[in-house]
Amino acid sequence: MDHHSDSDISSQRHVHSSSVSSLDTQSTGIDDACEDLQDSDREYIVVVGGLGYIGSHTCLELLKSGYNIVVIDNLSNSFRSVYTRLQTLGKNYFDTRCEPMPQMHLYVSDYRDEAAMKQILGEYVRPHTSHQLLEGEARIESRIRGVIHFGAYKSVSESIQQPLKYYANNVAGLVEFCSILNSFQIKTFVFSSSATVYGSIANSGMPLREEHCTHQEEAFSDHDGVTKTVLGGCTGLTNPYGRTKWMCEAILSDLALADPEWTVLALRYFNPVGCDASGLLREDPRGVPTNLMPVVLRVLTGVSPVLDVFGTDYPTVDGTAVRDFIHVTDLARGHIAALAAAFDGRVPKGFRTYNLGSGKGHSVLDVVSAVESASSSKIPLRILGRREGDVGSCVAMPKRAETELDWKTEKSLETCCRDVCNFLDKFKRPAMPVV
Ligand SMILES: NC(=O)c1ccc[n+]([C@@H]2O[C@H](COP(=O)([O-])OP(=O)(O)OC[C@H]3O[C@@H](n4cnc5c(N)ncnc54)[C@H](O)[C@@H]3O)[C@@H](O)[C@H]2O)c1
Repeated sequence: MDHHSDSDISSQRHVHSSSVSSLDTQSTGIDDACEDLQDSDREYIVVVGGLGYIGSHTCLELLKSGYNIVVIDNLSNSFRSVYTRLQTLGKNYFDTRCEPMPQMHLYVSDYRDEAAMKQILGEYVRPHTSHQLLEGEARIESRIRGVIHFGAYKSVSESIQQPLKYYANNVAGLVEFCSILNSFQIKTFVFSSSATVYGSIANSGMPLREEHCTHQEEAFSDHDGVTKTVLGGCTGLTNPYGRTKWMCEAILSDLALADPEWTVLALRYFNPVGCDASGLLREDPRGVPTNLMPVVLRVLTGVSPVLDVFGTDYPTVDGTAVRDFIHVTDLARGHIAALAAAFDGRVPKGFRTYNLGSGKGHSVLDVVSAVESASSSKIPLRILGRREGDVGSCVAMPKRAETELDWKTEKSLETCCRDVCNFLDKFKRPAMPVV
């Protein structure tokens, strides 16, 4: 079951000069000379953190939707073999349709490496026509149509212990990266935000709507039709990770306010679970996982003896925490919908937040029983106290994404569990006692 080997690298596109020695690129394996000839006009989407859990699923959906992609990842929480899997899945998809697969390039680099980012983005600058040069209209034009930014650290507990690591990567990195994008005139940006930005509002038990925790004043009609005005700001953020997401949103909002050419869509994810139905992609962190589903997987595969349930005294149906679980493929499609809406001009320029959730809440025990029935296995539980930084309930009001992005979830919690078990079956999990 070791799929972390780097030996499956299919082709090396080119390795760059010593000034960016960490930079290492791969392409889909098409003959370089031929590719360079055809490539001068091709447009791309940059995906930072594209080999991670949500990033890899989004890359697959981008390819399926016909986008050429440039993946930038430093492999801090992912493996190079994910790229090979993406190639395989993309090729299978397009082979069965007898269509050519879009281009996919991988750059193994830290997005905070300024020289590397300038070098990568420089490769996608449109050459100036002689007319532009003569007329003095030599403004930089990029073939990068937009950026989806997943690159961040994401463990709540680690962020409490090592806050500076989180601020450096998630916040400082974003500031520098946006300055570089600005200089290349790349101004369509999709940001991985999180429902964690709702802070203590999540504890109200009401579905969470985007007008809360904004960065500028917003007005909305509540369920009784009464107009309410909400000032920018948020209270009760419980951990540094959540604060990094909040700060990034605020920075991007200020940027878009200052320069109206920017379109920034901050997607507030609820709880992604599941994996691609092929079973070839999944959540596969380098360290010990903290999200519910990979921890459940460790129990199912016998790596961990029990599933720790943190808190059974929340004001929820069964006392365990309630979350809005969303299939990662639905979430990935949300990014395609966001890009399409931005490119079609269906969303206003500037900064806007969108909840990507199902609008339905499930407790931890609901998930346990859904996994048990999909896997025909018993999951032993260990009941513990509440975990620092957690809230009791966190469920989306997903209306804005449905109306403005033409997106909503399609897959159920049962499908999430079935796909994860499909992945396990592919890799021959050890037998567990049947329920
Ligand atoms: N998974 C969730 O439950 C969840 C929920 C809400 C928001 N998010 C956000 O979504 C994004 C993606 O989450 P994920 O679950 O796919 O995480 P992940 O850790 O699986 O993916 C992140 C990817 O970014 C890469 N990366 C990190 N720092 C980088 C850097 N400096 N330069 C280049 N690459 C870098 C990692 O190697 C990894 O491949 C993150 O920003 C996360 O905060 C995740």
